[in-house]
Amino acid sequence: MAKAKSKDKTIRRRVSKRNTKAVIDKYDLYRQAVQSPETDVDFFKRVYKELRGSSAEIFREDFCGTFLLSTTWVKNRPQHKAVAVDIDPEPLEYGRNHYWQKLPVLTQKRLKIFEGDVLASRLPEADIVAALNFSYFVFKKRSQLRAYFSNVFNSLRKKGLFVLDVFGGTQCTDAIEDKEKRPGFTYFWDQESFDPVTNEALFHIHFQLNGSKKIENVFTYDWRMWSIPELRDLLDEVGFKRTHIYWEGTTRNGQGDGKFSRTEQGEACLSWIAYIVAEK
Ligand SMILES: C[S@@+](CC[C@H](N)C(=O)[O-])C[C@H]1O[C@@H](n2cnc3c(N)ncnc32)[C@H](O)[C@@H]1O
Repeated sequence: MAKAKSKDKTIRRRVSKRNTKAVIDKYDLYRQAVQSPETDVDFFKRVYKELRGSSAEIFREDFCGTFLLSTTWVKNRPQHKAVAVDIDPEPLEYGRNHYWQKLPVLTQKRLKIFEGDVLASRLPEADIVAALNFSYFVFKKRSQLRAYFSNVFNSLRKKGLFVLDVFGGTQCTDAIEDKEKRPGFTYFWDQESFDPVTNEALFHIHFQLNGSKKIENVFTYDWRMWSIPELRDLLDEVGFKRTHIYWEGTTRNGQGDGKFSRTEQGEACLSWIAYIVAEK
């Protein structure tokens, strides 16, 4: 494991507004805005127990970014081990400095960081592989996504599960900007375009610290929107035995309630999020 550096300058971005300067920690704002690692880890444990009747040990987080999820997995139980994979050294360095360094030494040893392409051969084996926050949407060609799914299949242990999230809904075909207030800042999810011929869409995340100017395009995602049936077909093709859809429940006022249960029937709505769990 590479030794952590004491300082990382790359993740900070300065913006001038008249004479004031806002400095943001983009990965920390991202964490606060979109990540809920404890909920994800509880979901993985529940689903593994439900489908396999036992407990998973090795978790691999593909497209891990700052690998907050892997950190949460190894903290959760002393038997847990994790491997975090990402192609970009910048978020990995952030994760080493901000999350990995704070773990007790013995827990650090149970987390391996792997800088590389998820399409590379011989990825470390695991009981659960997760590709979250829709990161695999980066693969726009069916052959690329198939190669990735096949790689996951081959690197899973015998009773392994592959967990991926997916989103959709009529709103995803519109150019829209959603905005949510969080303590100290506002988070913007901006869909710049959607092309119905290719299903490609361009998204940005912007942040605005309270009392400061909005900082545009802190993260940009150039994706193809994959549908659940397309994904299931591909998973089936590369050898997965079964795939399950976990659909989110709805509150009285029509919002997602954060509780996902297995179903074979979805519900048309403006926007939805679901998990696909594939059994080796
Ligand atoms: C949307 S971020 C997701 C971060 C994290 N999974 C999360 O849930 O917040 C996508 C990540 O995928 C990484 N990535 C993109 N293509 C990749 C590839 N081919 N192999 C490995 N990582 C890749 C990027 O570097 C980026 O950190």
